[in-house]
Amino acid sequence: MSEDLRSLEEKVKDLRPYLDDRKVKKIALELFRIYKRQIPKDALEKTADGSYTLWSETFKEPYHSVSAGAVRECRLKFLYPSGLLTKAVRSDSLSILDVGFGLGYNVAVAITLLKAVNSSLRLKIVSCELRKPTNVPILKGPYGVWHRWLMEVFPEGEKEGVSFLCLEGDARKNLKSLSFKADAVFLDPFSPYVNPELWTLEFLSILKNLIKEEGYLTTYSKALPFRKALLDLGFKIGETSPVGRRGGGTVASLKGPVIPLSQKERRRLSSSPYAVPMRDPSLRGTSLEILIRYFEEVHR
Ligand SMILES: C[S@@+](CC[C@H](N)C(=O)[O-])C[C@H]1O[C@@H](n2cnc3c(N)ncnc32)[C@H](O)[C@@H]1O
Repeated sequence: MSEDLRSLEEKVKDLRPYLDDRKVKKIALELFRIYKRQIPKDALEKTADGSYTLWSETFKEPYHSVSAGAVRECRLKFLYPSGLLTKAVRSDSLSILDVGFGLGYNVAVAITLLKAVNSSLRLKIVSCELRKPTNVPILKGPYGVWHRWLMEVFPEGEKEGVSFLCLEGDARKNLKSLSFKADAVFLDPFSPYVNPELWTLEFLSILKNLIKEEGYLTTYSKALPFRKALLDLGFKIGETSPVGRRGGGTVASLKGPVIPLSQKERRRLSSSPYAVPMRDPSLRGTSLEILIRYFEEVHR
């Protein structure tokens, strides 16, 4: 969304008529800073590890981190911190909830590497995705076999002990009534200020019901409102290693061991005005509504 400051002020006023002008300007400026970063790019982009990603016209962001490398990101930010590779050695079956199927890279990389550890492992994978993107570049090398299969059978398929189902549509609606317990949740929407719908307290509380107590939620983000929401929901949280940028991502679990956050990060979470959860009580709010509500809280 490319917006000028004046039209954002109008939108904030429309949605929050009771706010004074100073507050309206502050919130509009926060939104302006988010939207001005959204510069259109070529549809297909080569990432740092040689794999390709796509640019989302809707969200104005790439599907993967270009500086980290798309496949590297799947391994280091999602699969490795999830603990699944260790569990795969001694398990018959594992289950994954994949939030934001996108190009299917996270799922293809996870199946390939988990099957390499234990070829008889059964995998139950439930993904969710607004709509399947077109012109998806098929991954090269060992990941290509499973990636091509996922693209062919989408939204549902079964092969060699792997069952895959993608729930198409808004994850907020589709996951609410799902009966599933995941060993790992890969939380991979676009970034929190661009795609806040899937980073709110209410949506994370749905995920809480879908994850095993010893399971892990992994993601690339370390955003304060997201981490604060996890803490409020009773998750223990830790930081994953940085890949392609200074900060790491987040690993969270209800009962599984997690290396605690640094003292500096804990201080930020307890003292920054930005460390308040994003809220979406109806689970139907637009991204603008969620952001305005959030910045209203930040600048209270
Ligand atoms: C960063 S991309 C995911 C990349 C993907 N995990 C991969 O490995 O290729 C984020 C995805 O989340 C999806 N998404 C965003 N909001 C959603 C929603 N409310 N419900 C379901 N999917 C959503 C987008 O359509 C997009 O495909």
